[in-house]
Amino acid sequence: MTRRFALMIDPVAAVEQRADYADTFTQVDAAAPALSVGELSTQRGDGVFESIGVIDGHAQEVVPHLERLAHSARLCDLPVPNQEQWRQAIQQAAAQLGAGESVIKLILSRGVEHGPTPTAWVTAAPAADFAAVRRNGVKVVTLDRGYDLGAAERAPWLLLGAKTLSYAVNMAALREAKRRGADDAIFLSSDGFVLEAPTASLILRFGDRFTTPAPNGGILHGTTQLSVYDHLLARGFEVGYDRIPAADLTRADAAWLVSSVRLATAITAVDGTPVAVDAALTDDLNAYLLSPRD
Ligand SMILES: Cc1ncc(COP(=O)(O)O)c(C=O)c1O
Repeated sequence: MTRRFALMIDPVAAVEQRADYADTFTQVDAAAPALSVGELSTQRGDGVFESIGVIDGHAQEVVPHLERLAHSARLCDLPVPNQEQWRQAIQQAAAQLGAGESVIKLILSRGVEHGPTPTAWVTAAPAADFAAVRRNGVKVVTLDRGYDLGAAERAPWLLLGAKTLSYAVNMAALREAKRRGADDAIFLSSDGFVLEAPTASLILRFGDRFTTPAPNGGILHGTTQLSVYDHLLARGFEVGYDRIPAADLTRADAAWLVSSVRLATAITAVDGTPVAVDAALTDDLNAYLLSPRD
């Protein structure tokens, strides 16, 4: 089985319909150079992406990821991806993967300066081993994101809510969290509400009700959070979307960061204050998230 795999895609229009898109894919050596130096994704972070969890060769929640890729593309004025073409590219990548956990990345870039536009590719690789963090949880610090909850609506050019390739700020926040002795961060809006982590969504439990920040406030709508909500509803719990004040973080009966590849990790402390941990539910969520999901 191939351990790393890369496929360049020649993107076709969203409206085009055909049965087989194989002739629009070119497999390239994942370890060799493949991009032009004029790539605007690398020069400016001008593009959008998705990371899909793959369990034993099954790509999880493909449609929600493709829908969010299309949403991000629209927000960035990029050509909307052809769902079926990308679905077939994901299928081809997943077919190369063996047992265990892997990650498939979808990248849609503005393209090459004075050259082909847009450019697109899919990669597949083994995932990092997250068993320990799923078991032990994460200590988080809260960090000011620098904008208020109204910014997404007031200033759409900030592209809040699009999963763009410009993750330098997210990575800087993780480094700041480590400097402060924590494992991860939770962004707060400048008006004091909870947003998301740099690479994950947040879910809080209050009794039998679960809540997450409403996705209209400039955050990504997490595919894992959506899937966890389906599972919690099926188990008879109540779920909702709210404006969550920062003070609620340490009042919660339990709290998790959830994302497609790391899955669910319990938050054990916020800014040094311990948070209650629900180990049984964390295990249940991860067992569900590791099962095949479409
Ligand atoms: C900023 C941000 N929020 C939330 C998420 C969680 O999204 P998903 O559950 O679709 O992986 C991610 C995932 O990478 C992210 O980068």
